[in-house]
Amino acid sequence: IPSLHEALAGQFKYGIGAALEPFELEGQHGELLKKHFNTVVAGNVMKPDYLQKQEGIFTFERADAIVEFAKANGMSVRGHTLVWHSQTPDWFFKDPEGKEMVGETDPVKRQANKELLLKRMETHIKTVVEHFGTDVYAYDVVNEVISDSSGLRSSKWYQICGVDYIKEAFRYARKYAPEGTLLYINDYNTHSPRKAQDLYNLVKELLADGVPVDGVGHQTHIRIDSPSLKQITDSIEMFGKLGLDNQITELDVSVYSNDTDKYETVPEELLLQQGYRYGELMQEFIRLKPYISSVIFWGMADDNTWLKNFPIARLDLPLLFDEQLQSKPAFWAIVDPS
Ligand code: XIL
Repeated sequence: IPSLHEALAGQFKYGIGAALEPFELEGQHGELLKKHFNTVVAGNVMKPDYLQKQEGIFTFERADAIVEFAKANGMSVRGHTLVWHSQTPDWFFKDPEGKEMVGETDPVKRQANKELLLKRMETHIKTVVEHFGTDVYAYDVVNEVISDSSGLRSSKWYQICGVDYIKEAFRYARKYAPEGTLLYINDYNTHSPRKAQDLYNLVKELLADGVPVDGVGHQTHIRIDSPSLKQITDSIEMFGKLGLDNQITELDVSVYSNDTDKYETVPEELLLQQGYRYGELMQEFIRLKPYISSVIFWGMADDNTWLKNFPIARLDLPLLFDEQLQSKPAFWAIVDPS
């Protein structure tokens, strides 16, 4: 069968990628990875919870295994993610007495907490980006900072630092990462007009303040029947016209239309429909290629997808290769759109 990234050669500057776990570097998974993808991202092992579970103790071994594999096979690496509300150890948000910073009412202590949290963030970002150096060409500097209802997400980061944590995260990343490292603000449902608008307003404020943002990462976890392709492309165009790069950072297409259905086996018809959607979507990304520099799938094959546990435990088959690592209709719809 043809190679996915070769079939799409020349379309996206930083290539076609997949998220993976270290075990997927081995055996058949490793072969699939090498054949079809030319850029990779760690599905988990570059998150704060993995890199600095205890304060001051950095554990890079699992992330390094991915980076070494990528280098040995001529693939680039995206870093995911420096700052996030999830998969981040609790110690970040505790004061020197071990008390939760969130909820502090004394203004003097609140200020001290903010300074301490930003200092911890600086140390984390500095250590991580200096460790990977030029082996990681781009980072999701902040992940999921926009609220699902309105404005900025009221995460611990936000409650303790306000919008400054976002600004400082980019400034630290720019300060300590090698020159030319690309810095992204990454989020899901960026196709929602309301969420896109809030993200747009934030990014405009950041740029006006001279905060070094290079682009927007669109996770693009979508469903078989929603959102419309137009909503997805409108959002990309909106940021592209602002002069920002866009990357599709976590693409998958769930076979479900809602959060509750469960199939024991997925009807073949749905896999064809999924293929059709993937094919059309990739054509749209290609049409917008001046605005999009990379397309990354959130997983290699259906045997290992986070959607088996999210939003509920159920069978889901959202990727281009099946549970036996064989190509699905979705693969062919992208590789051979005629
Ligand atoms: C997911 C991983 O795929 C899972 O293995 C983990 O249990 C939870 O996180 N948005 C993101 C990713 O930015 O980091 C998430 O990854 C999926 C949603």
